[in-house]
Amino acid sequence: MANILIVYSTTDGHTLRICERIKEILEKEGHEIALVAITDKEDFDPQRFEKVVIGASIRYGKHRPAVYDFIRRNQKQLESVPNAFFSVNVVARKPEKNQPASNPYLQKFLRQISWQPQYVAVFAGKINYPIYTFWDRQIIRFIMWITGGPTDPEAVVEFTDWKKVDDFGRLIAEI
Ligand SMILES: Cc1cc2nc3c(=O)[nH]c(=O)nc-3n(C[C@H](O)[C@H](O)[C@H](O)COP(=O)(O)O)c2cc1C
Repeated sequence: MANILIVYSTTDGHTLRICERIKEILEKEGHEIALVAITDKEDFDPQRFEKVVIGASIRYGKHRPAVYDFIRRNQKQLESVPNAFFSVNVVARKPEKNQPASNPYLQKFLRQISWQPQYVAVFAGKINYPIYTFWDRQIIRFIMWITGGPTDPEAVVEFTDWKKVDDFGRLIAEI
């Protein structure tokens, strides 16, 4: 049994849902999980947790600045235990961009930070037009139009491969 911290950065809640699924998998394996939103204040305490997972979504090409700050502040602590990072974005709905090595956001992110997570994953996210602001909806619809995705302004489409999430959860259980 290990105490595991899952830290997440989300805007519309989908990354949190993925974290909750990973938490369920880990709890089934007998682990104790703390699920915490990334904030500017909370730091990672390696005395308290034996593993750490960070999950963050992409918005307009970037993970939120709080993700970079958290990693910068906690790099030494993160490196002292088994650790993993995953990114959530809709580009990953494309088979040729849904692996860590082929996902441009994850690759760029790893080049930008000096922490190199031991395990990385990419999960396709969700499009939920009805909850977006007018301009976000128009911009995302335009991007989807260019890239062959859904453009119906009422569309709610989840691209996440939950089996892949489950497999990642089981991997975290084993590390
Ligand atoms: C305003 C906005 C901008 C987005 N920008 C991107 C982007 O640049 N690239 C991408 O692949 N996905 C983009 N997405 C898709 C999100 O990554 C996807 O909806 C994800 O599931 C969001 O996760 P969250 O709910 O945890 O924030 C964007 C979504 C929104 C609403």
